[in-house]
Amino acid sequence: MTNRQEKPKILIIEDTPEHIHILIECLHEEFSITAATDGGRAWQFLQDHIKPDLILLDVIMPGLDGYEICKKLKADARTRDIPVIFMSALIEEQDERRGLEIGGVDYISKPLRPALVRARIRNQLELKRHRDHLEEVVKERTRELLLTQDAAILGLGILAEFRDTETGMHIRRTQSYVGLLARHLQKTPKYASLFTDETLHLLIQSSPLHDIGKVGIPDSILRKPSALTREEFQCIKQHTLYGRDVLQRIEATMQDNAASAFLRFAKEIAYTHHECWDGSGYHGMKGEEIPLSGRLMAVADVYDALTSKRAYKEAFTHDEALRIMTKGDGRTHPDHFDPDILQSFIELNESFRDISKRYQD
Ligand SMILES: [Fe+2]
Repeated sequence: MTNRQEKPKILIIEDTPEHIHILIECLHEEFSITAATDGGRAWQFLQDHIKPDLILLDVIMPGLDGYEICKKLKADARTRDIPVIFMSALIEEQDERRGLEIGGVDYISKPLRPALVRARIRNQLELKRHRDHLEEVVKERTRELLLTQDAAILGLGILAEFRDTETGMHIRRTQSYVGLLARHLQKTPKYASLFTDETLHLLIQSSPLHDIGKVGIPDSILRKPSALTREEFQCIKQHTLYGRDVLQRIEATMQDNAASAFLRFAKEIAYTHHECWDGSGYHGMKGEEIPLSGRLMAVADVYDALTSKRAYKEAFTHDEALRIMTKGDGRTHPDHFDPDILQSFIELNESFRDISKRYQD
């Protein structure tokens, strides 16, 4: 019962063979037709085949009636957007209202008049084409906006980093490490509910801003080739406060704008990425008091600091960094890190090595 593929596909759900025959007669030249004589068969067809462009649905049928079938179609994300036209011999106003309320787009009365049926179908297909086109345009614009936003965030982070290492690669590496750890934790039962795909995206998107507060630290301290004095160290610590405060000010100007959701993570990360699990970090936060975003960035940031050359030190190899983070070296200690995240880091360490090579300074 199927014609050429390029024709719009119509699924007829109708229990009376004569009515199916009439519909095929009047539609087969213009449309590709499939018919099912009850809801169960129609449902099976929709699971197994390419979805139709439109459904003609008889209201009165044994078993599931047209209304019940329509409800089922509209409740399923895969079939929700297929236009449904009801067909019925007895149309009262309340029937029409009910059909339209549950998601039907039109009502055709029986006996069926071929020219009218074709015209109604053409109208609905044309409307759907416009709607689909509009959705595509909106999706494309949204994608462009998100890309622009990501680029602006990355740019801001790199600008702050230019004061320090001048390459911008630290931002790219730490962003990749955070993504790697978060995706790994997302697969575990303990963290699955904490990382929806959306929070994961926001976390990764906002991580380049973790050191944005460094723009407030003098070059003489930021680029000092020797050990910092106590006062200088106190000054460096301020970058977590500057970062948090500037992001808070941006957030305040955006009010409740949903687009500012990522700023919540950015603020958390900026303020807490130097906290230690054992409480020995910049602001003395401890354990789960430290937001998960900050705990993730702490592991990413320390690994990156160890494996990068700095004004005051040479780069450690990957194996040396792995040993220092898991065994300690008097300065860095495994107790500094959330044990779950440190365990993920150990399991993923080869991937960390790959990323550090891919984005070399
Ligand atoms: Fe930092």
